[in-house]
Amino acid sequence: MLFDTHTHINSEAFNEDREEVIQRARDAGVTRMLVVGFDRPTITKALEIIDQHDDIYASVGWHPVDAVDMTDDDLAWIESLTHHPKVVALGEMGLDYHWDKSPKTIQKDVFRKQIALAKRLRLPIIIHNREATDDVVQILKEEHAEDVGGIMHCFSADWETAKQCLDMNFYISFGGPVTFKNAQLAKEVAQKVPLERLLIETDCPYLSPHPFRGKRNEPARVKLVAEALAELKQMSYEALAEVTMTNAKTLFGIEK
Ligand code: NI
Repeated sequence: MLFDTHTHINSEAFNEDREEVIQRARDAGVTRMLVVGFDRPTITKALEIIDQHDDIYASVGWHPVDAVDMTDDDLAWIESLTHHPKVVALGEMGLDYHWDKSPKTIQKDVFRKQIALAKRLRLPIIIHNREATDDVVQILKEEHAEDVGGIMHCFSADWETAKQCLDMNFYISFGGPVTFKNAQLAKEVAQKVPLERLLIETDCPYLSPHPFRGKRNEPARVKLVAEALAELKQMSYEALAEVTMTNAKTLFGIEK
């Protein structure tokens, strides 16, 4: 019984076999999934998917790489979609300094606007951080993101950063990289994160866990992430699965 809290099964990478991918996930014990939309096409597809599948929920937001494209109309549209009962979070949002399509000032502005919206709507937020840790933490603090909390998605920063995020009511989510042999930092941080704040994800089609590194990822492989974390936490796979399921349901307000 696993909850993959970050999938992009709305991606074009799954256009040929999306239903098979979803079924393989269920067969592997993935009984809940969150599909994350981050621009017009991926949000539209995410909503289509959650209307067809009882066990899949959605998050809607605007990706920092494309921040330069976001209009006020886009943000109003995102807000209107949050009335859907299966839209349970806002994001992914954040900062990405790896790509330079969107200037930092615009990324920060779009990030702040989405945090403000989440606070107004009382929805948790899903944070994307790539090579921008200091600025992400600073903005979360300045905007009082602790009022809603959320998920630090595919966490790769150090323990000091994790502690600050935990203090702001965030959950720390690990994906495929925690299974890599050379991921010493992620493994150390995962060992320290309190169980009641731990989540698992694939970020599929990206970041396939070992031994599928480099291949298209899919939700069924969140099982490999759960196995790696159970070993790091020195607990059973079943117990790890149960606590991360409970955490995700609590955060997203999912009762069943
Ligand atoms: Ni993502």
